[in-house]
Amino acid sequence: MAIGFKSQLENMDGIYSALFTAAETIYAVLQKGEGLKFATSSNESGDDQIELDVIADNAFYDTLSQDPNVRYVVSEERPDMNKVSDGPYSVALDPIDGSKSALIGIPCGAIFGIWKDADSAADFHGGNILAGGFFVFGMTLEVYFADGGKVYKGQKDPLTGTWTVLPIADPMPSADIIAINGQMQKVWDKWLQDYINDAVDATDGKKPHNMRWFASMVSDMKRMVLQGGLFAYPSANFKGYESGKLRLVYEAIPMAFLIHAMGGSSTNGDTCILDLPVEKLHQKVPVFIGDKAKIEALEAYKKKG
Ligand code: F6P
Ligand code: MN
Repeated sequence: MAIGFKSQLENMDGIYSALFTAAETIYAVLQKGEGLKFATSSNESGDDQIELDVIADNAFYDTLSQDPNVRYVVSEERPDMNKVSDGPYSVALDPIDGSKSALIGIPCGAIFGIWKDADSAADFHGGNILAGGFFVFGMTLEVYFADGGKVYKGQKDPLTGTWTVLPIADPMPSADIIAINGQMQKVWDKWLQDYINDAVDATDGKKPHNMRWFASMVSDMKRMVLQGGLFAYPSANFKGYESGKLRLVYEAIPMAFLIHAMGGSSTNGDTCILDLPVEKLHQKVPVFIGDKAKIEALEAYKKKG
């Protein structure tokens, strides 16, 4: 399949081709209205799976395992790293992100990251990632990713079936938009309550930040890439949310890598997401990704306490 894109990284084109092919397979299932039913299984993080989660995981594994450059495949839907070959690159995936929102028609997608020389969970840290981004299964099939330091947007023409993948040369746009689920606000840390309250303060003629939440990280991140803002999934003082909800390896790091390549920033509240050590494949992390100034302000609120 021609994807009209050549990676600046050596022997990486087959991996992109595998990722794009699997994304096409998954998108075709969605277009037929299939896969959107709860399966009877759950994944390593305890999330109930829908059929599409399993279909997508298999689609990516099938194509990636045919490339001799792929060493390991890591997936939200697989308990352990799966060895494919002795090749140089390993791929970590959230095969379907936002699947619960897909049930009611909000675009879901797939998140991917590509690492070099990874042999254990600890090697999948942000200092080792070479490429990362996400597909969106929306009105059309789209992809946003950073290949090394270069950022691209791709779109498949639904009529001709051809991909157009073009660089995004502009720096990250800026907008006063925050994507966060306010459900846990009463059990957030005080510094976060203060930051969000101040950001949305509309009293005395102040201009509040806008709030948007798709409950589909790929859709919220697509808005971030195209319009700017801040994406947040914080920790909460509530059982099961002590480190937030999102997973460090295959959600936070690939997204942070892309936004950093655009000139944005990321943090878990204290430390850049790309500098965090990885202890476990499926570990969760509080996530703040977006505009540099907003990340700095947020960290300052946390420091102040
Ligand atoms: O993969 C986890 C995920 O579905 C993300 O896509 C999304 O940002 C988040 O969970 C939504 O969480 P919540 O259901 O708490 O709004
Ligand atoms: Mn996800």
